[in-house]
Amino acid sequence: MERTPWWHDAVVYEIYVRSFADASGDGVGDLPGVRSRLPYLAELGVDAIWLTPFYPSPMADGGYDVADYRDVDPLFGSLADFDALVADAHALGLRLMVDIVPNHSSSAHPWFRKALEAPRGSRERDRYMFRDPAPSPGDSGGREPNNWVSVFGGPAWTRVPDGQWYLHLFAPQQPDFNWRDPEVRREFADILRFWLDRGVDGFRIDVAMGLIKAEGLPDTEPGFGAKSPIWSQPEVHDIYREWRRVLDEYPGVRAAVGEVWTDSPEDLALYVRPDELHQSFNFAWLEAPWSATAFRKVIDETLIAVPAPTWVLSNHDVVRHPTRYGEGSLDPSAGLARGCAAFLAMLALPGSAYLYQGEELGLPEVKDLPPESRQDPIFARSKGELLGRDGCRVPLPWSGTAPPYGFGPGGSWLPQPADWAGLTAERQAADPSSTLSFYRRALATRRALRGTLPDTMAWLEAPGDALFFTRGKLICVINCGEEPVRLPPHDRVVISSGPCDGLELPPDTTAWLLTE
Ligand code: GLC
Repeated sequence: MERTPWWHDAVVYEIYVRSFADASGDGVGDLPGVRSRLPYLAELGVDAIWLTPFYPSPMADGGYDVADYRDVDPLFGSLADFDALVADAHALGLRLMVDIVPNHSSSAHPWFRKALEAPRGSRERDRYMFRDPAPSPGDSGGREPNNWVSVFGGPAWTRVPDGQWYLHLFAPQQPDFNWRDPEVRREFADILRFWLDRGVDGFRIDVAMGLIKAEGLPDTEPGFGAKSPIWSQPEVHDIYREWRRVLDEYPGVRAAVGEVWTDSPEDLALYVRPDELHQSFNFAWLEAPWSATAFRKVIDETLIAVPAPTWVLSNHDVVRHPTRYGEGSLDPSAGLARGCAAFLAMLALPGSAYLYQGEELGLPEVKDLPPESRQDPIFARSKGELLGRDGCRVPLPWSGTAPPYGFGPGGSWLPQPADWAGLTAERQAADPSSTLSFYRRALATRRALRGTLPDTMAWLEAPGDALFFTRGKLICVINCGEEPVRLPPHDRVVISSGPCDGLELPPDTTAWLLTE
């Protein structure tokens, strides 16, 4: 039995499968591509990988529209490829988590197709959220059942020919399940078992706070959290209690992390009560600006509410953090320096850290994608007003000097910038001053200290716009200000995200100091 469960302080690497590595040559990443790059991930020093959805899907939302929860889309390979990937990952000491999408299916899912064919009030319609129209004076057909809007823009309801409407919190091709229906619950418990039987170490739960909607579907104001009729309803926790029992039936420790967007750390904490999920993503840091005050608030509020939290700076839904941190700065290299500093700070905290593919290469957000190449439904639904999330999903540059930079033998589904030759994994692996080399050193240093640090941290007084905190013998110092700050007393600098002479910490830098 392990001293602490693996997920407790794991570093998990998110693989956005479409954009990681393409073995088949169709320009889309796939499971054999992931498998071929596992040694790279083992060398990087992460503990686990999370694969975004690879299930059969019309790809209306990059695979988050699942048509069959128990198979692999031919675009990504086969179940045999999946099994081989699990075996290889485990042989390299990497755990593997898969993404489960329970809030909605694809409109191509057989259940939804049957629901469309079935009459109103039928069993088939009951598995989804069909409703009669709200009366609207002057219009015989009525209007949407309530005022909810889709997360991707536009109404959250689509009308079907017999006059009913169905709910989709995301795209119309993503109809929401009715989680008050016992058959939906049984089906998902069975889907979890399907993947657990194939050896997965855990699940990332998509839109975990959305499954149950308030009875009567009352109108809402925008916003997340327990006060909304859409998100974080109390009954959602019954589902995770049931899922926890399923996970606990299996040998070893199988873990679940919920994607929970909320405006309150207390709400987040509810998802990780001892009989529920193991972790929930903590997006508070990701939403904070580059500021010591903001970071300190995030860290304090998180640690008060959640004892073994997660820390996340980037994922496939948000602008990459070096680009976020660089916005408004006159120094073009500030964003990347801050990105590395935030990463090192996050690694010093108790809990677990989630990385997003490509951040170890210091990839920026790609902002100038040609409009015709963009595939995120947010772009089309907002008529181009919102760029959407394609800019953080550009396929990875592995090697070579021109696109597709070793991504695969057949181009890439989103075009890669012409100036990424210096950012390839191959080039950076050979350069000790690269972002990749820094990420490897940082992860190795964290590993070397694993088990020697307490699960608590304490603030030290810090000058200017800097933060100093201790975790046992480790002192982590972060300088978000514009002037160098004097380091607190220590014995040695064990790693820093930028130059550090042992006396002062330059701006946009984090260092780990040891006291023996
Ligand atoms: C989650 C995913 C996102 C997807 C959405 C709908 O937020 O991370 O990529 O579009 O759910 O499934």
